[in-house]
Amino acid sequence: MASANDNEILTQVGKGTPMGDMMREYWLPACLSSELEPGAPPMRLLLLGEKLIAFRDKDGRVGVMDHRCPHRCASLFFARAEGDGLRCIYHGWKFDVDGNCLDMPNLPDDQQFTDKVKSDVYRVKERGGLVWAYLGSRAEPPPFPEIESLAMEKSERVVRCHQRECNWLQALEGDIDTSHFSFLHLGATQPEDVADTMHRYNLTDRAPRYHVKETDWGTMYAAYRPAADGQVYYRFSQFIFPFITLPPDGTFADHVQAGIWVPMDDTHTMVFTFFWTKRTPALRTLKDGSPIPGSVSPMEYLPQESGWHGRWRLKASLANDYQLDRALQEGGVYSGIQGLVAQDQAVTESMGEIVDRTREHLAPSDRMITMTRRRLLNVARAFKEQGTAPPGVDRPDFCRDARSGAFMAPETQGWEDAYRENLERSVSPLWAKREASV
Ligand code: FES
Ligand SMILES: [Fe+2]
Repeated sequence: MASANDNEILTQVGKGTPMGDMMREYWLPACLSSELEPGAPPMRLLLLGEKLIAFRDKDGRVGVMDHRCPHRCASLFFARAEGDGLRCIYHGWKFDVDGNCLDMPNLPDDQQFTDKVKSDVYRVKERGGLVWAYLGSRAEPPPFPEIESLAMEKSERVVRCHQRECNWLQALEGDIDTSHFSFLHLGATQPEDVADTMHRYNLTDRAPRYHVKETDWGTMYAAYRPAADGQVYYRFSQFIFPFITLPPDGTFADHVQAGIWVPMDDTHTMVFTFFWTKRTPALRTLKDGSPIPGSVSPMEYLPQESGWHGRWRLKASLANDYQLDRALQEGGVYSGIQGLVAQDQAVTESMGEIVDRTREHLAPSDRMITMTRRRLLNVARAFKEQGTAPPGVDRPDFCRDARSGAFMAPETQGWEDAYRENLERSVSPLWAKREASV
């Protein structure tokens, strides 16, 4: 249970809030690189409650800036894209991707003051198929972090995004909550339905125990279940500051996957997911190779719209009860909802736009969630009150030892030892690159 005050700090991300200001110290994903065509009109972009526009000039450079024109604040969303910049439709002032004013055509030549006006522009970088922006307080942005999922070759990388209509933290917490996997997603699947791999333990034992730990990058847990022959089945998962998760659903040795839960505002989240095509497939099929009912469903999107919340909305939403099918619920799909993403959307959005955490009754299965909230609160408060830099901001390799997924280890081995040993044995596009550059 969290106090009302803690819940406010955890969930509010606007400028001047402890959590929002802490997040702004990091490079933040703004949008997919593919959303911005060279020379195309600007796109509305909502990031941590700030109303921005994003565009790409004809030379491929990206601009992210306040949507209000520095002249009299008309929205630059309506601007004319002229290749080398955007021209405000009100009085024709023109700005390039760096925020420089190029032209003031409504003023006589002797009254131009283009050198004295700049739009509120943010620094940007493109990495891993995304545009990243720095909205923080430093004159020089921090170094860009080495995140494993960003090191994938383009041809081996799947990046997707979708919007979730609720606060960022309750959305993220779904990814660090292992026990729901055996209910929400696989509740109607029986052990004898699936192949005899280690992942079957998710079905033979639906009530794991947990180890949790604070780390350099945030928090981690191992859910564990006793297995055959003196072995233990572990599922590890990570929380990385400020809002990255490495979900456990896969095989640790090659499980390069991440979720980035970017707050658009307090009640909407843009979720970016990264998958490595070379990873071992997770538990998704029955013995005969057919999909586990309800587990595989293409993500269907509503048409993209230009409004602040118009991008990457899914067709299955609260408005249509996520296309819940009661007959399916009584039959082979525990939730009655098709697709893992829609199932996750349904449970987290149905908590309300911002969940009231004073109503919760947390259990030992929620220890990772409790520890992560505590860590977030401490870091946000320390930044607000003492200016303490949040974890990893100045250390780009801060999450190099963060990996998620499942493995088996002897019960005689300590869980952290087992983690370390499996980490050393695992493969990674990031480590391959590091070795190549030595
Ligand atoms: S408000 Fe944009 S040019 Fe005047
Ligand atoms: Fe889930």
